[in-house]
Amino acid sequence: MRILAIETSCDETAVALVEAKGGLDPSAGSGLRFKILKNLVASQIKIHRPYGGVVPNLAKREHLKNLPILMGEILKISNFQFPISKQIPNSKSKILNTIDLIAVTIGPGLEPCLWTGINFAKELYSKLRTHNSKLKLVGVSHLEGHLYSFLLSQKSQWSIVNGQWSKIFPAISLLVSGGHTILLLMKDLVHYKKLGETRDDAVGECFDKVARLLGLPYPGGPEIEKLALRQAQDRPNVIHFPRPMMNQKNYDFSFSGLKTAVLYYLRDLRNNSNQVEPQRVEAEIRGYQCRITRKNFISVNQRISAAAADIAAAFQAAAFDVLINKTLRAAKEYKAKSILIAGGVASNKTLQKQFKSSVKSQLSNVNFFAPTKKFCTDNAAMIAVAGYINYLQGKPRKLNSVELRGKKHRLIAQGNLTI
Ligand code: KG4
Ligand code: ZN
Repeated sequence: MRILAIETSCDETAVALVEAKGGLDPSAGSGLRFKILKNLVASQIKIHRPYGGVVPNLAKREHLKNLPILMGEILKISNFQFPISKQIPNSKSKILNTIDLIAVTIGPGLEPCLWTGINFAKELYSKLRTHNSKLKLVGVSHLEGHLYSFLLSQKSQWSIVNGQWSKIFPAISLLVSGGHTILLLMKDLVHYKKLGETRDDAVGECFDKVARLLGLPYPGGPEIEKLALRQAQDRPNVIHFPRPMMNQKNYDFSFSGLKTAVLYYLRDLRNNSNQVEPQRVEAEIRGYQCRITRKNFISVNQRISAAAADIAAAFQAAAFDVLINKTLRAAKEYKAKSILIAGGVASNKTLQKQFKSSVKSQLSNVNFFAPTKKFCTDNAAMIAVAGYINYLQGKPRKLNSVELRGKKHRLIAQGNLTI
């Protein structure tokens, strides 16, 4: 089955063409497999960066601009336009006629952005349906997209995870993105339940806010990761931030207190001129390529940038300690065979490394899976996978109705859709 997937929930416009095979029954033999034919993402980072975060109306405008461009590239139609005009019936694109399923993200996310994808998908579906009566349209939860991203592997190769269900389930899945921090128990691919989630900020949101405090650009996650790696080898643990809720028995999280701890640390640094040793400051400033030759005078901001690598590393260590600790505890309690991580924060190499070594030392029989970077951050290939899994479960695909997790929803934008 060939799936065209559309993702516009936040600040990435993404379209993918994915080939899918197999069913959900692990004993069926053929296994569930995916092959990515195209996976295009138009990032809007540069547009939102000056504002320090995503501006919904600008994001919507960019989705409207980018969707036809990406679609034209996928379908190999030049000047593909939106609204989709008469070009479809007359189109010479062979690809269009091979699509069996259109999958589109319906939530959670920014509603004006979600609507652009949904309207685009509906229009495409109505036009194509006149030629292809078997075409289906399915609405997809963005969170399920992340949850299933572990099933994806490189472009033009069939995914390799298939057929290994006995090594995977039951699984503990940690979904860490800009909007969510959720821990789930997956009995199998389609039966899962939420064990806990953040009570305030999502961990990605916390990375973005701390980055802002440190004067780093949006999105903050990759910037904090880079800065933390610059911390001198001989200075681990020079700063210790709290690990909120880490030792509580539940599986909920809280990150806003950690952000506030960083804020207070910076305030104290500003107020206390003796906090940073002069040699350290000089070395750091050289590292930041500040052209400072005077040895005796260091401004407040320079002092903060001097300590920035230590702060970034300490913040990251605190956040990751909580995530890893709780995930491993859940894996022990539920006798999980694997730990899966997903979402933008999961692309952090330090997090992946720490997860791997903790799993190896504490739960040596448990497998650990992290998607490659491009499948951690928002993409449409994961929406195709979730769309196919929904399709296999026989979810209704009437144009204005969609079923997710046993509940009927209209095929409309659902900004607050939960998992
Ligand atoms: O999954 P995603 O692309 O979009 C949402 O669904 O939210 O996640 C975006 C979030 C942002 O908060 C971003 O700062 C964070 O993921 N992120 C990272 C890294 N790359 C992206 N956080 C930590 N380390 C990274 N390398
Ligand atoms: Zn996402």
